[in-house]
Amino acid sequence: MFVCNCNGIRCKQVDEAIRAGARKPQAVHAHHGCDVQCARCLPEIAARIRKVRAEEKARHEAMAEAG
Ligand code: FES
Repeated sequence: MFVCNCNGIRCKQVDEAIRAGARKPQAVHAHHGCDVQCARCLPEIAARIRKVRAEEKARHEAMAEAG
């Protein structure tokens, strides 16, 4: 499923950019070598960044608790 129709960026590619260090929607576009155009996808990408980061944080906390 496409998240950014203007640039053909799919959900999986957004997650890949986040895991590579993208912390802003514009950084997700830059990771894939394109620019924001209509900006309609920015709220969804921002939400995805929050979700993936929350999952990463929970995983790190679980690992820390496990020792
Ligand atoms: S849908 Fe992403 S820039 Fe237009």
